[in-house]
Amino acid sequence: MTEQHENIRVETRGRTGIITLHRPKALNALDAATLREVVAAAAAMDADPGIGAIVLTGSGKAFAAGADIKEMADRGFSEMFRADWFAGWDAFTRVRTPVVGAVAGYALGGGCELAMMCDVLIAADTARFGQPEINLGVIPGMGGSQRLTRAVGKAKAMDMVLTGRQMDAAEAERAGLVSRVVPADRLLDEALEVAGTIAAKSLPAAMAAKEAVSAAFETGLAQGVLFERRLFHGLFATEDQKEGMAAFAAKREPRFTHR
Ligand code: HXC
Repeated sequence: MTEQHENIRVETRGRTGIITLHRPKALNALDAATLREVVAAAAAMDADPGIGAIVLTGSGKAFAAGADIKEMADRGFSEMFRADWFAGWDAFTRVRTPVVGAVAGYALGGGCELAMMCDVLIAADTARFGQPEINLGVIPGMGGSQRLTRAVGKAKAMDMVLTGRQMDAAEAERAGLVSRVVPADRLLDEALEVAGTIAAKSLPAAMAAKEAVSAAFETGLAQGVLFERRLFHGLFATEDQKEGMAAFAAKREPRFTHR
């Protein structure tokens, strides 16, 4: 069943929730309404134990062509600061269910930044990534200078953020920004396959895996390794760990109950 919101479409297929950005008149530019809808849909999926993975994708020519420039053009510092403009997107990064981002066409500015908030990022061969805010007299504001630098290193991040140039899908894969590139007509199927694979695993283990890898962005090595090890220990309290290891010993497929 597909739910139609103002700027997104929401759908469930098996244990995978799909959020499709759909604001064609503005190339899916991320305005405040889109932010509210995406965050609410993702939070609802996150709260549903029947959902084991989320796919976030765009539509038409774009994943998203940025934050909505027209919505913020006339605002002043005080208003931006008091509203803490873009802080609402942090809620998307607190989603604990793994998120597969599927990017075709433009992922620029806030679109690139939203893509980088996803856990697994798959690109169509048509994908274009960029942080063009410098062309608007500003800089990235949804985490781009931080996540892009962590993803591709200082050299490419400086190049992209200072010149505003776009990366195509092949360069994005070489640079480590995306994990796979597929033909555009295969993008959704590939993303659904990856999501389906993840959703079939133990949900507590998948959530812990996401937390552990995400911690590599936030902590030093020793702390990160300790955090991982404690999560690993904790998983021995789950039924899925008993089932997964018993299934291995019995040479059969595991039947995870996500508990
Ligand atoms: C608002 C946008 C938009 C955006 C496109 N549109 N991007 N509206 N915010 N980010 C609108 C256009 O105004 C136009 O509306 C319609 O979508 C179609 O876009 P076109 O430009 O006509 O399409 P095309 O010629 O194919 O060019 C595609 C494009 C171009 C190269 C992606 O739209 C573009 O450069 N967009 C802006 C990209 C950008 O700078 N993004 C970063 C935003 S800042 P009408 O009504 O004319 O048909 C950001 C980070 C925030 O994201 C940090 C602080 C700023």
